[in-house]
Amino acid sequence: MVNVNTVQTKPFEGQKPGTSGLRKRVKVFQQPNYTENFIQAVLKAIPESDGGAKGATLVIGGDGRFYLNEVLQIIVKLSVAAGVKKLVVGRDGIVSTPAVSCIIRKIKATGGILLTASHNPGGPDADFGIKYNCSNGGPAPESVTNRIYEISKTLQNLEIADIPKVDFSQLGTQHIGDLTLEVIDGVKDYVEYMKTIFDFDEIRTFFKNNKDFKMLFDGMNGVTGPYGYRLFVEELGLPESSVMRFKPLPDFGGAHPDPNLTYAHDLVERVQAENYDFGAASDGDGDRNMIIGKDAFVTPSDSVAIIAHYAKEAIPYFKKHGVNGLARSMPTSQALDLVAKKQGLEFFEVPTGWKFFGNLMDAGRCSICGEESFGTGSDHVREKDGVWAILAWLSIIAHVNKSKRMGVQDILQEHYKVYGRNFFSRYDYEEVDSKGAEDMVERLRGMIEKNELVGKTCGQFKIAKADDFAYHDPIDGSESKKQGIRIIFEDGSRIVIRLSGTGSHGATVRLYVEKYSDNAAEYPKPTQEALKPIIDVALELSQLEKFTGRKEPTVIT
Ligand code: G1P
Ligand code: ZN
Repeated sequence: MVNVNTVQTKPFEGQKPGTSGLRKRVKVFQQPNYTENFIQAVLKAIPESDGGAKGATLVIGGDGRFYLNEVLQIIVKLSVAAGVKKLVVGRDGIVSTPAVSCIIRKIKATGGILLTASHNPGGPDADFGIKYNCSNGGPAPESVTNRIYEISKTLQNLEIADIPKVDFSQLGTQHIGDLTLEVIDGVKDYVEYMKTIFDFDEIRTFFKNNKDFKMLFDGMNGVTGPYGYRLFVEELGLPESSVMRFKPLPDFGGAHPDPNLTYAHDLVERVQAENYDFGAASDGDGDRNMIIGKDAFVTPSDSVAIIAHYAKEAIPYFKKHGVNGLARSMPTSQALDLVAKKQGLEFFEVPTGWKFFGNLMDAGRCSICGEESFGTGSDHVREKDGVWAILAWLSIIAHVNKSKRMGVQDILQEHYKVYGRNFFSRYDYEEVDSKGAEDMVERLRGMIEKNELVGKTCGQFKIAKADDFAYHDPIDGSESKKQGIRIIFEDGSRIVIRLSGTGSHGATVRLYVEKYSDNAAEYPKPTQEALKPIIDVALELSQLEKFTGRKEPTVIT
């Protein structure tokens, strides 16, 4: 028998899950009862349609960041008290976000708790995060996250089992009262699944026949290191020098584990200096990815379009299941739209955040999707999947190289020849004053409502349409409003402005710009040069500097 204690608590403000769960500074989670409160709210909010917490099977995994073990202990104590039947936890708590999704689906679990702040830095002075995923393996929909928040606002008691500290370092099954706790190898199921999706023999053959083609994978000291090692070194037989920073570290070695040209500069430099043909990186929890080549950077918007273009030819999973529709988040460039049009596929534009793709996938209407924020994925799981995207690219490379030698840059240029090029860039202004940022968006919203923008000429551009993006989910009928200011010009170029929903404090302004060209002479142009005129228009229209006091963005991707 396990003793359960009822412990008095009081609600904490702001336990409202954002785009991807609750993300706060570690210090916030460390306040007495703060984490307990949130986990209690999560357990109470598990939807009845999934069976609720009593008798549930939950998959638990995280990216190895600081404070993970403490939170695991709390989850076990509250789960035992809540009557959860089974917890399936990765060894040392390590399971990537897409792998949690994979395991939830594979074992038909009730849901899962993901312990990660994704690409945000880790360590005692950095971030932690907790996210709940439902039985489809995807992030909880707003109905569930709102319920978590509502419960968190009135919580008076915690039900905590009185149990000794649990050891998560050994594989195997333990029993704690009525709860079964299984510690699993968080990499194994995922690797097995990847072997059913991609043709590993074909990729292996490509590397064997092209010994001079070198690849470098950067785990960024996050969770994907062990996955990359298992897949690229052990399965594909590449030398160990093909993987870097492949051991998960609690503070990511001080790195900012976000795979973009700014934060993954170690990889970018090595690919250039050591003449690698293909470079790839994942973020802290393994759902994001970046693909680069010799003198080539694949924007995530292009990446998803190229994967969609080759999917049925190059990837066995799509040969078998077909491609039932494509989708992108609203700010993502329109390169994918062109592929959907050419292939006659159903197409969706959804708000930022992976959860919107899940409904479409569950309904069998979306097979491949992506976000400009280095998120690419498919309906094989219900999260974006960085390692999957890298394997997709290796499959494409193996496929196109059957007829002629092609590197990453050649694949890009070939794609532009067929579809034209959607130049795209995002400017992030991090940790700006919230009031200024909100006022800036409010002003644009006001101009849209008063219809002051349409018809206006800005330099070489004329505004054709302006709105605050709203999405009507065709599956569950839900409405999501105020998803970002969208200014579309007559030539199809776009400006999008929205505030981040994942920041842990202050506000982050995201400014997205896109310009289409079907003039082949322009394709080799550097992105920033091609976009300069539209960026100037964006800064002028938004009066960003006036409202935020920022002359330069923190990060350009
Ligand atoms: C950011 C990205 C978004 C992504 C999310 C989670 O959200 O922009 O595309 O889904 O992280 O990885 P934001 O901070 O913009 O709300
Ligand atoms: Zn992530």
